[in-house]
Amino acid sequence: MDINAGNTLIEKTVNSNETVNCIFTTDKNKAQMKNRLISITALVLVMAGMASCGNNKNTKKYNDMVTTESFGSFEGKDVFLYTLRNKGGDVIKLTNYGAAIVEIDVPDRDGNRDNVTLGYDSLSGYLNGDPYFGKVVGQYANRIAKGKFTLDGTEYTLAINNAPNALHGGPTGWHSRVWEAEVLEGTDYPAVRFTYHKPDMEEGYPGNVMAEVVYTWTDADEIIIDYKVTTDRMTIVNITNHAYFNLHGAGNGDILDHELTIAASAFTPVDPTLIPTGEIRAVEGTPFDFLTAHTMGERINDDYEQLKLGNGYDHNFVIDNPGDVVAEAYDPSSGRVLHVTTDQPGIQLYSGNFLDGTQTGHGGKVYNFRTGFCFETQHFPDSPNHPEFPSVVITPDEPLLTSTIYAFSVR
Ligand code: GAL
Repeated sequence: MDINAGNTLIEKTVNSNETVNCIFTTDKNKAQMKNRLISITALVLVMAGMASCGNNKNTKKYNDMVTTESFGSFEGKDVFLYTLRNKGGDVIKLTNYGAAIVEIDVPDRDGNRDNVTLGYDSLSGYLNGDPYFGKVVGQYANRIAKGKFTLDGTEYTLAINNAPNALHGGPTGWHSRVWEAEVLEGTDYPAVRFTYHKPDMEEGYPGNVMAEVVYTWTDADEIIIDYKVTTDRMTIVNITNHAYFNLHGAGNGDILDHELTIAASAFTPVDPTLIPTGEIRAVEGTPFDFLTAHTMGERINDDYEQLKLGNGYDHNFVIDNPGDVVAEAYDPSSGRVLHVTTDQPGIQLYSGNFLDGTQTGHGGKVYNFRTGFCFETQHFPDSPNHPEFPSVVITPDEPLLTSTIYAFSVR
C-alpha cells in the first residue's frame, strides 16, 4: 500500500517558505503537464519568494486570518462558517457541516475576484439535498457495486442510495455530518482542522474510524487538504473532496470551454450503472485523452460508448505519477488556472452531468447542466470488489494519510 505518501507531500509544501530565494522563474511548459516535474513545492517557493522579496523573511503567523461565525445548527450541533484570508487578501470559506469548502474567491487575470466553487450562502442549501458541493465524502467515495463487499471473510451490506449501488458513503455519510472543528494555532498559513468520529458499523462500514481533514490556505492561493483516517479494526476507506469548480465564477455559464490536461494514460471504463468493469483502458485515440490540453466540450458529445454511459465525463482516470501535479483546468476568458496535485492513484473527472437547474446557490445563481466540474482525487470506484485495483484497506497499524492541493493562478 502506498497510502502513506501524503506526509511527504505536505512536509514539502507547508514548510517550504523557510528557505525562500528571491528568484522568479516562469514556467513556459504548462501544457506539457505529463512531462512537467515542477512540483507544487516550487510554486510555493516562487510565490513565497515574491511575497518576501525586499521585505526580508516573512515570519508572520496567520492565526488572526481566520474568522469564525455562526452558520446555524443541525441535529443540535453548532455549525460554523470559517473565513480564511491569505496575505494577498484572497479568501476561502469552509464549514464544519460536511467539512465542506463553501467559497473560493480568487482573481482573474485583471485582478477581479470571483467565487469559483459551487455552494450556498446559507446552511439550508446544504441540508436540502445538495449534490455534495465542496463536501468531504467518506467512508467510501464513489460507488460500491450493489452495496456489497467482503473483507477478511465477512460480507458487509451498505444502503443502496444510487440504485443498484451504494454511493459516497451512504445517505448519512461523512458529507452529511457535523464535524468537530479547530482553528489551528501557530501555523504558517490560515488553517482549520475538522474531525469526525464514525462509530463502528455506521452506514454499514466496520471500525470505529477517526477522520481528520486539515485545510490550509497558502499565500500562493493553494488549498492544501491533508487527510488522515485511522481505525480500530480492519476496514475500507476512500476519501475525497467533492468541490465543483467553474473558473468563470460559479453560476456564470457552463464549463465546456475550460481547457483540461490530465496526466493519466489510462482510465477505468464503467458499466451502465457507473461501476468500473475492471478494464484499465489506454486513453490514446479516445475522447479521454487529456495528456495534451482539450476543452471539456470538444469531444463530450462524441459517439463513444463511455461518454454515453456517463452522460459526459464521469470517470476515474489512472494517474501516471501520483505526487506530481496531475491535472490542470484553464479558462481562457478569465485567465484562471487550477492545478491539482495529489498522491492518490485516481482522479474522477465529473462534468456536472447531474446538475439540472434545481440548485440555487451563492447570490441566487442557478446551477444548470454542466455549470461545474469536479476533479475528485481518490482511489478507484468499487475497489473492494476489484482486487486488481490499488488496495483501500486500512488497519490500526496502517492508517490512511493522503494529501491533495488545489492551486489557483492566472495566465
Ligand atoms: C460524482 C459521481 C457522479 C455523481 C456525483 C454526484 O462523484 O461520479 O456519478 O454521483 O458525484 O451527483
